Amino acid sequence: MDKFQFPKGFLWGAATSAYQVEGGIKNDWSEAGEKFDAGKACDHYNRFEEDFNIVKSLGHNAHRFSIEWSRIEPEEGKWDEKEIEHYRNVIKALRNRGIEPFVTLWHWPIPLWLRNKGGAKLKKIPLYFSRYAEKIVSEFKNNVIFWITLNEPEIYATNSYLKGVWPPQKKNPISYFLIIRNLIKAHREAYKMIKKIQPNARIGIAKNNIYFEAYQNKIVNRILKKFIDWWWNFYFLNQIKNYQDFIGLNHYFHNRINYGFNKNENLKVSDMGWELYPEGIYHVLKDLKRYKKPIYITENGLADANDEKREKFIKGHLYWMAKAIQDGVDVRGYFYWSLLDNFEWDSGFWPRFGLVEIDYKIMERKIRKSALEYKKIIENRCLDD
Ligand code: FCB
Repeated sequence: MDKFQFPKGFLWGAATSAYQVEGGIKNDWSEAGEKFDAGKACDHYNRFEEDFNIVKSLGHNAHRFSIEWSRIEPEEGKWDEKEIEHYRNVIKALRNRGIEPFVTLWHWPIPLWLRNKGGAKLKKIPLYFSRYAEKIVSEFKNNVIFWITLNEPEIYATNSYLKGVWPPQKKNPISYFLIIRNLIKAHREAYKMIKKIQPNARIGIAKNNIYFEAYQNKIVNRILKKFIDWWWNFYFLNQIKNYQDFIGLNHYFHNRINYGFNKNENLKVSDMGWELYPEGIYHVLKDLKRYKKPIYITENGLADANDEKREKFIKGHLYWMAKAIQDGVDVRGYFYWSLLDNFEWDSGFWPRFGLVEIDYKIMERKIRKSALEYKKIIENRCLDD
């Protein structure tokens, strides 16, 4: 590849989600037992100004975060004005630093009143969700353009209802399909609602797409790939294709198919054992071209406590992303997961995904070396080695 300059105006940043970093949240996770309680997390709720100073110092011009539904609507139909004010300040803090906010409306946990009624299984979920979206967007429409309605609906449905390892830990394949249907409807309703309130809004979801590789192009592998691509990568996007302005891509996984799934070589893995395979992002991006929408990489990252592999990981993914851009894929932004070390769902606090290390005892922030390498790329708009 010739020396490639990322376009001017390309968005560079990192992502977080409310429950994983804020601390002090009461929702269906925190009430599901000790294992699921994020407690104080990174105390980002009280330290967001300090954290955004770091964001600024790292050269980012965009930042993805989520609003916690249980803070905004602690009781059914009742809005907590103090919490709305909090997020108003969060958004302002980003704007004051010249950082474009990407706001996720739902990054998995739900308010307790909603859990008690049946959670994501409820028929009325689209109504409740679009009512919440209406409130948020009416409040913040002057300062936010990019809205992400749902984070990885298929991961949520899989872990919460198919595997039953996340709250509400109700393993039931029928519920799994029902939840996917409900989330499709929830997104569509929210999309229509947001467009009504804010016609210039840009709306999408954050979709976890996997590179399924048909090993040696064998026919059996190709058939398996076709099916799994259809269900995992494209079904949800197809269902919402007339209700999205951009595609948010969360990319973490490669899955080599060779008469079965996950026949990966695993030559390099993260602390969580996830295979490191930067080329995968190229294939996933090329496959998304069919939707003819701008694409933002809304998450991509690894757990790497010693910061030994992160620099290479980022550079590798940006290299393959650049290749996809050169091949005509309309990629407009990249958000590393995550800005901070944080609460990694049922794994707890041990996985270290952050550009910034957190010492949870004293809540101290320490910028990792790889974050400075990422900064250099942002400044130079190219990968020069
Ligand atoms: C994604 C989630 C995010 C984080 C990363 C590691 O699936 O969206 O919250 O947990 O994985």
